Amino acid sequence: MLIKLFPIPLLIILAFPISAESRCTVRSCTALASYYVWSDSNLTFISQVLQSPLVPYSTVNFDPILAYNKQVANKDSVKAGSRINVPFPCDCIKGEFHAHEFNYSIRPRDTYDKIAREYYSNLTTVEWLQRFNSFPAANIPDTGTTVSVVVNCSCGDADISKEYGLFVTYPLRPGENLSSVLTQANLSSDLSGLVQRYNPGVNFSSGAGLVYIPGRVDFF
Ligand SMILES: *[C@@H]1O[C@H](CO)[C@@H](O)[C@H](O)[C@H]1NC(C)=O
Ligand SMILES: *[C@@H]1O[C@H](CO)[C@@H](O)[C@H](O)[C@H]1NC(C)=O
Ligand SMILES: *[C@@H]1O[C@H](CO)[C@@H](O)[C@H](O)[C@H]1NC(C)=O
Ligand SMILES: *[C@@H]1O[C@H](CO)[C@@H](O)[C@H](O)[C@H]1NC(C)=O
Ligand SMILES: *[C@@H]1O[C@H](CO)[C@@H](O)[C@H](O)[C@H]1NC(C)=O
Ligand SMILES: *[C@@H]1O[C@H](CO)[C@@H](O)[C@H](O)[C@H]1NC(C)=O
Ligand SMILES: *[C@@H]1O[C@H](CO)[C@@H](O)[C@H](O)[C@H]1NC(C)=O
Repeated sequence: MLIKLFPIPLLIILAFPISAESRCTVRSCTALASYYVWSDSNLTFISQVLQSPLVPYSTVNFDPILAYNKQVANKDSVKAGSRINVPFPCDCIKGEFHAHEFNYSIRPRDTYDKIAREYYSNLTTVEWLQRFNSFPAANIPDTGTTVSVVVNCSCGDADISKEYGLFVTYPLRPGENLSSVLTQANLSSDLSGLVQRYNPGVNFSSGAGLVYIPGRVDFF
């Protein structure tokens, strides 16, 4: 299967190191954020925290999100424990890495921990929030300010495949592994080698951290 998809050029490329630090060689692209739905979250909330030019905040029209989530049967009650793919612009930040900066409006008693692990469903981390915000972790102002939430993303790696462009930023959860991640993303297990190469050195069973997986199930 892989041989069919990637004839001779891939074999040549693989002879060279492919782990080059991810400088931005592609300016920007569309990416998807895999949002793990916690109980009491809903599409209104998701479209609020992940709003961008691709997903305007709305309490009624979720079409920009639903277009990537044919599996959602009822938009008014997304299943807790499922995942929703949310499109967002993947930009080149400071010429160094791909990400998008979301602005989150602080509400009373918010903490970095709550913002990262709950509101942004582990799409970012406390450490990564602290890199881009100067509020003291124990004392974020109560209201009237925004926190910059930087969510990493990928525009692919032309050294691995030139054909594939849309990637999901996927926060791993405890109990998952490469095979279960592919299954839940509806990707064939034939792609496990390719997906691992997109995430060099990553342990898919580690229970935490971000991985990048292909986002268009109909592509292959
Ligand atoms: C959506 O979720 C948010 C956050 O949990 C909650 O405050 C809001 O009431 C919910 N909206 C609906 C329509 O359920
Ligand atoms: C999974 O992929 C199959 C075949 O490509 C498709 O028919 C099915 O609707 C997909 N399921 C989901 C949940 O996307
Ligand atoms: C986020 O906030 C910053 C600083 O206030 C602003 O420069 C930027 O345009 C905002 N981004 C979006 C997407 O609203
Ligand atoms: C985020 O990760 C933490 C630590 O693994 C976990 O407790 C929490 O449930 C996760 N959040 C979501 C929304 O899955
Ligand atoms: C985002 O990417 C940068 C650069 O590769 C990395 O240093 C950082 O740890 C990543 N953040 C998260 C939350 O994975
Ligand atoms: C991967 O996880 C699935 C579901 O949790 C489990 O059934 C399977 O045995 C695991 N596979 C490996 C290789 O650990
Ligand atoms: C990957 O992480 C899991 C969970 O921490 C660990 O049990 C396993 O040994 C790790 N695998 C490798 C190859 O490091």
